[in-house]
Amino acid sequence: MASFWGGRFEKEMDELVKQFNASIGFDQRMYNEDIDGSIAHVTMLGEQGIVSMEEKDQIIAGLEKIRQRITSGEIVFSVNDEDIHMGIESRLIQEIGDVGKKLHTARSRNDQCQVDLRLYLKKEIREIIRRLMELETVILAKAEKYADSITVGFTHIQHAQPITIGFIFMAYFQMFRRDIDRLMDTYERMDLCPLGACALAGTTLPTNRARTAELLGFAAPTENAMDSVSDRDYSLEFLSDASISMMHLSRWAEEFVWWNSQEFGFIDIDDSYCTGSSIMPQKKNPDMAELLRGKVGRVYGDLMQLLTVMKGTPLAYNKDFQEDKESLFDAVDTWKASIRIFANMLEKTEFRLDRIQRHFQQGFLNATDIAEHFAKQGIPFREAHSIVGRMVKACEHKGCDFGDLTDEDLQAIDSRITRETLGDISIKACVDARMSYGGTAPSEVRRQIQAGRDWLTGVEAMKW
Ligand code: ARG
Repeated sequence: MASFWGGRFEKEMDELVKQFNASIGFDQRMYNEDIDGSIAHVTMLGEQGIVSMEEKDQIIAGLEKIRQRITSGEIVFSVNDEDIHMGIESRLIQEIGDVGKKLHTARSRNDQCQVDLRLYLKKEIREIIRRLMELETVILAKAEKYADSITVGFTHIQHAQPITIGFIFMAYFQMFRRDIDRLMDTYERMDLCPLGACALAGTTLPTNRARTAELLGFAAPTENAMDSVSDRDYSLEFLSDASISMMHLSRWAEEFVWWNSQEFGFIDIDDSYCTGSSIMPQKKNPDMAELLRGKVGRVYGDLMQLLTVMKGTPLAYNKDFQEDKESLFDAVDTWKASIRIFANMLEKTEFRLDRIQRHFQQGFLNATDIAEHFAKQGIPFREAHSIVGRMVKACEHKGCDFGDLTDEDLQAIDSRITRETLGDISIKACVDARMSYGGTAPSEVRRQIQAGRDWLTGVEAMKW
């Protein structure tokens, strides 16, 4: 059929221009949302007497038929459709005749594409929240399993202090919890309906925007028509949320990679989540963890792409804005897949406590605990710190551990200390005693797990 704006044109669109201009290749992903938006719109047009109730019913029946045909694969779009909005509208007119031409009363593709995108993103945000909750559930179970298991805590990838494995899990639990919170905030802010903003300035027709917002499940209509068709900050917020969360995944993925190395040997990732080498028969590589670490790059790229597209664009709609979709879709797909892969890999990974233990001998993991022990006996912490520093030097000199220092060695360092004043400096005692709020002691980690469970139950009750 002839294009929708043929009236003022004398020439057909150039073939190359058609291809360059079209968004149908990617925006057909939103066909359901487009049809939902049109049904709400024409329902309102009917209720307001802008079209007759009969016309409204005909249009809705036609749209539902087209929905079925798209879903079944019977309708295949091409660049001639330009975008999903015109692709569906032209099919509607073919299907039901001239009455179909009334659908586009009091709206524009400028508001329509934003209705579609917001509906789509709201749906995907709910799905991503559910996936992050699945991940949190796996984390809680593993944290419980390893609540008492001790491992090496690092700073600067140097041995720092002994911690529990459950404690590490609960650290990541907090990060993903904030990711979920951020998504909920984003959802709430974007839950406004642009439909009826039209091209940029509203309409002279007696529409009811509150009604279409309600029909589509939005909290309210957007407040200003020009902003409605020009705003992409909700997508940018989503892309920032995605970037931050992917960064969290990449950090843990990185830990998986080195925990899995021969040097550390802390974990065994399940065979089904590793790959081999085509030349080195012995290899079992943590490819999923590495891919996750790498995938964050494309999501950062997606955020940068849209920030750059939006920079300096004047009000109101500009065709630049059509570039708001592909990167968003890419981030949605990448984030969703990454969360699921990570959760499964986590579930299938076991810690090698026997191998981890071998690392306790190095790095004087209990040094801080000894200093704190001295502090409890009245030695100012700065002095205690220096005493333990000298103990480390003495051990390095003798090639031994703290426990091997004799009373003489200790007295030579400071007259206030003997083997007895050292107290219980076993790794387990050190960990058990770190019971401060948020600390690593198993009892405290169990409190964190319970608090995490309570929070998750609250989120589940919200029915995302
Ligand atoms: N395909 C377009 C987009 O996604 C729809 C809006 C087109 N509006 C226009 N005035 N050309 O942005």
